[in-house]
Amino acid sequence: MTESKSADWAAYYEKLRERPPRRTLVTALDRFGPGAAGSLAVDLGCGDGRDVIEMLRRGWRVVAVDAEPEALRRLMERELPGEITPIVARFEEVPLPISVRLVNSSFALPLCAPEQFHALWTRIREALPVGGRFSGQWYGTGDSWMGRPGMTFLERDAALGLLEGFDLEMFEEEEADGTTPRGKPKHWHIFHIVARKR
Ligand SMILES: C[S@@+](CC[C@H](N)C(=O)[O-])C[C@H]1O[C@@H](n2cnc3c(N)ncnc32)[C@H](O)[C@@H]1O
Repeated sequence: MTESKSADWAAYYEKLRERPPRRTLVTALDRFGPGAAGSLAVDLGCGDGRDVIEMLRRGWRVVAVDAEPEALRRLMERELPGEITPIVARFEEVPLPISVRLVNSSFALPLCAPEQFHALWTRIREALPVGGRFSGQWYGTGDSWMGRPGMTFLERDAALGLLEGFDLEMFEEEEADGTTPRGKPKHWHIFHIVARKR
């Protein structure tokens, strides 16, 4: 990632500091229930840890992956209510631990090129055990960032196709005009996903 990209991410972390966990993650954790405490989760593109903190709070162990060292530096500065393994790496390249029960990736997986996205999704599907879950967001083709190099946008049917073999506990399609966290106008087309492997 270039220096200016890193500066952009630092501004993003600052802007969204201390935000509550994403609804997709909370739904996945609720579905697992308290009996899942002690299980292992991976957060791909964890940022400064809004979701990581919630997983720890509920007793999960977390492997926290982000390509930006600044993300993990900020995360490690926070008061962490549990055990994490921080990894500075691109998620396309990071191995997924065999005992993972939850792969969470909020607003991050679309930030890789289609070929890598599909290869990574195959690895996620294979790494999850029956009853394991994926939670996170993918972007739809109506998104105004569509066409940006190095990003993945999916038709609704293609997204649903990738989720074959999973029970969909949340599959919400959001299309709305809004702004980015940095205040730029944007048309969002997002799939909010919680999926349980059959
Ligand atoms: C939009 S932020 C989302 C952060 C956090 N998951 C959240 O929900 O607030 C995307 C994060 O993904 C990270 N990221 C982007 N591309 C990545 C990649 N290929 N591998 C690992 N992390 C990546 C960025 O550094 C950033 O922290």
